[in-house]
Amino acid sequence: MFFFTICGLLLPALIYQVNASPHNAQPKHRLGRERINLNSDWKFRRWEENPDGLIYDYRQDLENLTDVSILKPWILPSGNNFIKDSSKHYQRPEGNPGSNVSFVQNDFDDQCWTSVTLPHDWAIAGPFYTEPDGEAIVGGGMGRLPVFGVGWYRRKLHISNDDKNKQIQLEFGGAMSYAMVWLNGKLIGGWPYPYNSFQLDLTPHLQFGQDNQIAIRLDNPVDSARWYPGGGLYRDVWLTKTEHTHVNQWGTRFTTRDVSNDSAVIDLQLSLENTANYTSRVSVVTEIYQSNTVTGQQGRMAASFPATTVEIEADDKISINQTLLLSSPQLWGPPPTQTPNTYIGVTRLLNEAGIQVDAYETRFGIRKFEYTGDDGLRVNGERVRVQGVNEHHDLGALGAAFNVRAVERKLEILRELGVNAIRMAHNPPASELLDLTDKMGFLVFDEVFDSWERNKTANDFHLIFSDWHEQDLRAMIRRDANHPSIMVWSIGNEVGEQNYTQELTEIANTLYAIAHDEDPTRPVTASMNFAQPGNNGAPFPDILDVLSINYQGEGIRDTPNYAVTKGITTKPAYPLFHEDQPDKLIWTSESASTVSTRGTYFFPVTDDGGAPVNDSSGGNTTLAQVSAYELYSANFGSSPDKVFATQDQNTYVGGEFVWTGFDYIGEPTPYYTSRSSYSGIVDLAGFKKDRFYLYQARWRPDLPMVHILPHWNWAGREGQVTPVHVFTSGDEAELFLNNVSMGRQHLDQYEYRLRWDDITYEPGELHVVSYKAGKLWAEATVRTTGPAVSLRLTADRQSISADGVDLSYITADVLDSQGSVVPTANPEIEFSVSGSGEISATDNGDPADLVAFTSTNRKAFSGKALAIVKASKRNGTISVVAKSEGLTSGEIILNLLI
Ligand code: GAL
Repeated sequence: MFFFTICGLLLPALIYQVNASPHNAQPKHRLGRERINLNSDWKFRRWEENPDGLIYDYRQDLENLTDVSILKPWILPSGNNFIKDSSKHYQRPEGNPGSNVSFVQNDFDDQCWTSVTLPHDWAIAGPFYTEPDGEAIVGGGMGRLPVFGVGWYRRKLHISNDDKNKQIQLEFGGAMSYAMVWLNGKLIGGWPYPYNSFQLDLTPHLQFGQDNQIAIRLDNPVDSARWYPGGGLYRDVWLTKTEHTHVNQWGTRFTTRDVSNDSAVIDLQLSLENTANYTSRVSVVTEIYQSNTVTGQQGRMAASFPATTVEIEADDKISINQTLLLSSPQLWGPPPTQTPNTYIGVTRLLNEAGIQVDAYETRFGIRKFEYTGDDGLRVNGERVRVQGVNEHHDLGALGAAFNVRAVERKLEILRELGVNAIRMAHNPPASELLDLTDKMGFLVFDEVFDSWERNKTANDFHLIFSDWHEQDLRAMIRRDANHPSIMVWSIGNEVGEQNYTQELTEIANTLYAIAHDEDPTRPVTASMNFAQPGNNGAPFPDILDVLSINYQGEGIRDTPNYAVTKGITTKPAYPLFHEDQPDKLIWTSESASTVSTRGTYFFPVTDDGGAPVNDSSGGNTTLAQVSAYELYSANFGSSPDKVFATQDQNTYVGGEFVWTGFDYIGEPTPYYTSRSSYSGIVDLAGFKKDRFYLYQARWRPDLPMVHILPHWNWAGREGQVTPVHVFTSGDEAELFLNNVSMGRQHLDQYEYRLRWDDITYEPGELHVVSYKAGKLWAEATVRTTGPAVSLRLTADRQSISADGVDLSYITADVLDSQGSVVPTANPEIEFSVSGSGEISATDNGDPADLVAFTSTNRKAFSGKALAIVKASKRNGTISVVAKSEGLTSGEIILNLLI
């Protein structure tokens, strides 16, 4: 019936024995909790066509697939803990589907499958599909990469006899997507939505004292997303062992109230479970420790909840509520005006002999958020303007495979920009990302869905919405609620139900109630690009606690330049929302959608405050690039300048989340021949576009800075008008071309850039001097460079950990003989490494570059290229070399630290 791989049959059994039995988790007979990382030693294979006759549920694209087993009834019970009404819990049907599929069987020979280490994104290595959009199996929208298909992952798991009395759970940070898991040939459950974390109980099906076989099936339909989702076990996998009596999954909830600098009340809700067939009696104590803001390490004890003794009946769960008053709390708040202090709650369970049977750590923070109608967001009493960006989950050239350092670098670059808030567009992130936002002090807009029952693409997660919305929403909130950085829950982005009153009301009210039931302390929002007060009667603004508006705040197509584009027209809608809901916080959850390519400029430049991009205005279809004068936007978008002005004219607005901070893979509006987006303030490689400085000037007003664009290498444009724009945190500037003043200009109210639009190009030097309140503030120079002569390598961090996951981001700059970056140089660069590391990926930030990210050869783009070097687990050094024909090579040595 189905074709199964036969590769292993030809291989001698001996090889199988040697390679396929990694014995992790050496037995240690001790009481308590153990959490073991299971990222290594996986075997993987992907098929473009269904290889096994299994499917989660019927789907349109599989109409012709007959004789399939539908596994949904066996998967649904995995979400039971997240369905509040126990009468709606699913019963597992009889039978064991998939047991006849060879991939789930312990003795299946997976020798010829690929060995992989998690997190793993099966699509990121490419190659890119280069056919025109519409003909490519995966087009620009999903990043032209092979994301679709069915993937299987297999791994042995040795469990010792000493673990016989333990509870053993398999935990997934997230699995893309429709995860179904077998243990020793038995289907134990799964979780379809790829962005949530989940755990499955292995205990009943384990074989102790021997190897067990885990087999995981993932399935990414075609047309499952509007952006690049990646594919596979793209986050960490863990094994957690506990005693019968233990703290439940995500079983602690710390909330704080009556917060001031003098004191705060901390409420703890603790959920404990006893899986034994006898009553257990434990004493429970939770201590609160300070945490070092730099290292995150546990400091001195700050307080303790009173110890209490409880009985938990056989196979039962209990909840304990406790409260304490903490004096002089160290509050969590966003820099630069506040400090992101956190606390660590350590919950210990002791048995009747006084022996610790569980210890569970929870990081939390103490802070007060106020969501006001007329004064935006207040954190600990201080108004904090939300200077936010939207981010998808991909990590550029590394794809969806989660890496802590990759995220930390992103956040560092965004911090330099002045960002203080991130919107998780449009799904829950890896929990480790939230650890970083807690630690670094970013405010978070945590969002669960991009679609409800109405789809945006044929096979997006509207397919599972009716069965899974409660479990997915509760799972997100239960996992994330202790993170102090999260300030709001979003139940959806631009959902299709916005203007269908009845559907919207039913679903929004349901989700709203679930969110408040899980977390009464935070407001609920959703992003509205169409719904307005009174609009078709759809009552979204009435339902939500916080009004999150996409693009409507600054107005959509309401200026003459945009009249040529099709779609709704909306004048700046902040006043409309504010008048209708004067007590609710309003902010823009997606602003601008300005598009640009780093270092690329087209002429003429619109003399207006913004224009939609097209071939006669800021764009070039042949090159698939957009001008970086930072005035061109998607058809429904605006320039940053217009967004700033409308926000400043409506001072009650809480701030904005720009679409987007970084470019991301997929959705390459306006050029779907490309692989990645144009909307980032920073490009996909992490290099700053000119827009970086426009936002920095506004978001870091105390940082003396001034920035000039464009570059000044315009051989052939001599005598032609070449506008020069300047971004500064000052209020005035004088521009000089070859030492001749081009005039001094002042920023008037609601102006955010200084424009010298009639400069005639001549090679040489542009110099700008900016002033603030009449005093010298900052200076910058841009020069016409000579030809490229050499490559220079610099590392974001030259010493990295020898842990097999740490990264160093190496920038290759193409230099002229004076050491200036040649902004027009695009030579082919060959990167190589020797020593204790490898090149994971390369990039250059060019959205149209369809060379695989894993290639070690990369053309520079606008004078720059990037190599991402990953550490091995050996200490020593890594030498990274970049060569290009005719140029002096660059080299850098990295140190690995154990
Ligand atoms: C918005 C949408 C985002 C993204 C953006 C592109 O409408 O919510 O996910 O598609 O447009 O500019």
